[in-house]
Amino acid sequence: MAAQLRAARRPGRALAALALAAAGGLLAAATVGSGPAGAAGTTLRDLAEAKGSYFGTALTQSNLSSSTITAIAGTQFDMVTPGNEMKWDTTESSAGNFNFGPGDQIVSFAKAHSMRVRGHTLVWHSQLPNWVSSLPTAQVQAAMENHITTEATHYKGQVYSWDVVNEPFNEDGSLRTDAFTNAMGSGYIADALRTAHAADPNAKLYLNDYNIEGLGAKSDAMYQLVSSLKQQGVPIDGVGFESHFIVGQVPSTLKANIQRFTALGVNVAITELDDRMPVPASAANLAQQATDYAYVVNSCLAVSGCVGVSQWGVGDPDSWIPGFFSGYGAATMYDDNYQPKAAYNAAVTALGGSTSSPSPSSSSSASPSPSSSPSSSPSVPPTGAACKVSTQVSAWNTGLTENVTVTNTGGSAVNGWKLAFTLPGGQSVTNAWNATVSPATGQVSAVNLAYNAAIPAGGSTTFGFQANHTGNAAAAAGFTLNGVSCTAG
Ligand code: G3I
Repeated sequence: MAAQLRAARRPGRALAALALAAAGGLLAAATVGSGPAGAAGTTLRDLAEAKGSYFGTALTQSNLSSSTITAIAGTQFDMVTPGNEMKWDTTESSAGNFNFGPGDQIVSFAKAHSMRVRGHTLVWHSQLPNWVSSLPTAQVQAAMENHITTEATHYKGQVYSWDVVNEPFNEDGSLRTDAFTNAMGSGYIADALRTAHAADPNAKLYLNDYNIEGLGAKSDAMYQLVSSLKQQGVPIDGVGFESHFIVGQVPSTLKANIQRFTALGVNVAITELDDRMPVPASAANLAQQATDYAYVVNSCLAVSGCVGVSQWGVGDPDSWIPGFFSGYGAATMYDDNYQPKAAYNAAVTALGGSTSSPSPSSSSSASPSPSSSPSSSPSVPPTGAACKVSTQVSAWNTGLTENVTVTNTGGSAVNGWKLAFTLPGGQSVTNAWNATVSPATGQVSAVNLAYNAAIPAGGSTTFGFQANHTGNAAAAAGFTLNGVSCTAG
C-alpha cells in the first residue's frame, strides 16, 4: 500500500509521527542518513513513521547501561515497552508500597530519544507478588483497582498505551484461573479496563496475549471477549498479538486475523515479535527468519488498524529466548555482535526502504551474518564499513606486542565490530586487550568488547595482543572490518 494512502487513512498518526520527528530535533538529524547498526540511509523508525506506523522494542533497566543496546534502541526504534519494570512485582511488591523508579528510567530514556512507551502491564497472573495471590478473594478487586489507579495515574500522559490485562486465556480459549478470576470471574477484565480509563483517559487500552496471532480457539476467545466488551461500551482500544514465533511457523492466517479484530473497531499491535530457531543458527533458518519478519511487517502494514510492530528486545544477546527455551535463540533482527541480520534487511524492505545488499528474500540472504563469517563476501548484508588500520609492533627475540588501531572511514557508525586479519607464520597469540582475539594463529579475528562496540563515523578504536614468534615479527596483514577490506594507514 502506498505510503501516501496509508498516511491519508491515518491522519492522526501521520501528524503524530511528524510531531515526534520534529520534536526529535537532534535525534532526527542523527538518524536521517545511517543509524547505528542499520542499513545505509534508513532506520526502522523513520521508515515506519513515514507510513504512519512505529517500530518498537522492549528494554529493561539493565539494558540501559549497555551503550551498544541504547545506541541501537534510540535510533532504530520509536516505541519502548519496559521488559519488566512496570509489572506488579516491581511496582507494588508489597501492598500499597509503590516503586516507579525502574519504570521511570525507561520512560526517561524514551523521552530523551523521542520514543513513545507501551505500558506493560497492569494485571497479569505472572510476576504477580505473593501478597496479591494470598489475599482473601473479597479483597482482590480493591487491590487490583488501587494498583491500576495508582500506576496509570503515575504514568498519565507518559504512556501511549497500556497492556491493561496480559495473557488472560488458556490455550483452549478458556479463561485462565488466577487470583483475579477467582475473585471476580471474567468481570475483572471489564473492571480493569474501566479503572485504567478513569485514571488515564488518553491512554490506548489493550488486552495482550500470545498464540492469538492466527485463527484458532485462543484467538476466537479473544475475539468473542473484545466483541462483548465493545457491545457493553467497555473502553478497549486494541489487542496485542505478542508474536513469539518459531522460525517457519508464523501462522498464514495472521493478516486475516488482524482484519477481523480491526473490523470490531479496535486496533491491533504486534507487541513482542521474535522468531526463534535452534542454535547455532543455520543459514537456511536465518533466511527463513527474514521471510517471517517481512511477512509479519507486511501483514500489519496491509491493515489500516494495525498500528505498529514491536520486537521483544533489541538483539539476540538481550533476548529472553535462550533463558526460557533451551537450545533456541537467534530470535531477533540483531546478531550476537549487534550486527543487523537478514531479518533486519527484510523489515527495512517491507517498510519501503532499501538496503545495499541483495534482497533478503533472495537466496543470497541465506549467507551467514558478517559476524559469523566476516570474509564471506560478496553476499553479506551491508554491515561492513570503510576502514583504515594502523599497526605498531614491539618485538623481542621470541615475542612481540602489537597494537592495532582501526578507524571507521565510512559515513555511519559501526556498532559491533569484528576485525579479521592474517598473522604471519610462526606467530601465536597468548593474550589480548580491548578485544577478544581468536584463534591464536593463522586467520584471526578480533571482536569488540561491550564497552567499545561502537565506532562512530570518523572515530577509531585500539586493541592489542601479545604473541610468541619464531623469527618473523612482522605485523598482521589483510585486515577486514565486518567483511570489508581496510586500507593501511
Ligand atoms: O529480578 C530477579 C533477580 O533478582 C533474580 O536474581 C533473577 C534470578 O533468576 O531473577 C530476576 O527476575 C527475573 C525477571 O525476568 C527480571 O530479570 C525472572 O527470574 C524472570 O523469570 C523474568 O523473566 C521475564 C518474563 O517475562 C517473566 O514471565 C522476562 O525478563 C521478560 O522478558 C518476559 O516478558 C514477557 C512479557 O512480559 C509478556 N509476554 C511474554 C514475555 C516473554 O516471556
